[in-house]
Amino acid sequence: MVQAKTWTLTKHFDGFPKKSDFELKLEQLPEPKDGEVMLEAVFLSVDPYMRPFSRVRMNEGEVMIGAQVAKVIESKNAAFAVGSHVMGYCGWRTHTVCDATGLTPVMADWPEDVSLSLALGAIGASGLTALYGLEEVLGLQAGETLLVNAASGAVGSVVGQIAKIKGCRVVGSAGSDAKVAFLKELGFDRTINYKTVGSLDQALREAAPEGYDCYFENVGGPFSSVALPLMNDFGRVAVCGGISLYNDTTPQTGPYQHLTIIYKQLKMEGFLVTRFEHKHPESLKRLMAWMKEGKLQCREHITEGFDNMPAAFMGLLQGENTGKAIIKV
Ligand SMILES: NC(=O)c1ccc[n+]([C@@H]2O[C@H](COP(=O)([O-])OP(=O)(O)OC[C@H]3O[C@@H](n4cnc5c(N)ncnc54)[C@H](OP(=O)(O)O)[C@@H]3O)[C@@H](O)[C@H]2O)c1
Repeated sequence: MVQAKTWTLTKHFDGFPKKSDFELKLEQLPEPKDGEVMLEAVFLSVDPYMRPFSRVRMNEGEVMIGAQVAKVIESKNAAFAVGSHVMGYCGWRTHTVCDATGLTPVMADWPEDVSLSLALGAIGASGLTALYGLEEVLGLQAGETLLVNAASGAVGSVVGQIAKIKGCRVVGSAGSDAKVAFLKELGFDRTINYKTVGSLDQALREAAPEGYDCYFENVGGPFSSVALPLMNDFGRVAVCGGISLYNDTTPQTGPYQHLTIIYKQLKMEGFLVTRFEHKHPESLKRLMAWMKEGKLQCREHITEGFDNMPAAFMGLLQGENTGKAIIKV
């Protein structure tokens, strides 16, 4: 009999998540039935979306939502051999018995010298989000100037690097001097520590006196209010995330930038990475190729131990991570 450890949501988050919102539980797993597999988590992901999605996709008492890379340890499904690895949205659990719905084998030719954890980050959902935001939503062109915030994180760090591959000028904003130093290492043209800069408006103007053609939005709120007026006419904005809003108990209000959007004829489009699912296999190959060519650095912030998942999640929302936040079981 295999026993799984799970982290459940005891109470819906109210403001910033706290330790008492989570409970570690043990669960006896049944043997897999025909068509099912038993999985053992190897790496788990903590992501900002878990904060807003928990409110709309979860009930109190349920296992926290989330993706993991897991090893198949028992199989009654011919498509999933014992010993192979899969990516699945199994939630915050060490072991899972499930049918194969929603499981994706990790890329067949995944190189042995590349950590499987990247399948949750730069060669997974974070990298895909960056790629689609730039190509499908913004239609970024060589020679354009791009602004990205939360730039040292899982998505933002890939956004900046792909934009450099495409021959663009990239300005990135992040929340510490160490993060800003990392962005410079990645080849960002100009960097801003939004926490210590006196005037964000002035810093963004100085970083791109020619204005911004494209804006990859990860943060929202006041940052957005400052950035939108600095866009060029017909500028494009990909609204990927709004992490500065996720822990609000009272919704933030204005300033509202509708007149800016009208006068500058801006195009703003929200998107979810899942919209472009049909492109994933080909896109993952491109991300892997850039990584192998040394054009894409994949930084990770690894927390050891399943028991530390809530701490890693809360740390992510406080900006502790540089690169993709991963839990190694
Ligand atoms: N649309 C989609 O399909 C999709 C998919 C994946 C991710 N996303 C969104 O993309 C964004 C980035 O996600 P990620 O996975 O790459 O996370 P991440 O950037 O690796 O981690 C979150 C980072 O956000 C920053 N942050 C936290 N609170 C902030 C605040 N109040 N104001 C400004 N920055 C704050 C922190 O960095 P600093 O130290 O720089 O503040 C933190 O390290 C999130 O908004 C996420 O929801 C969307």
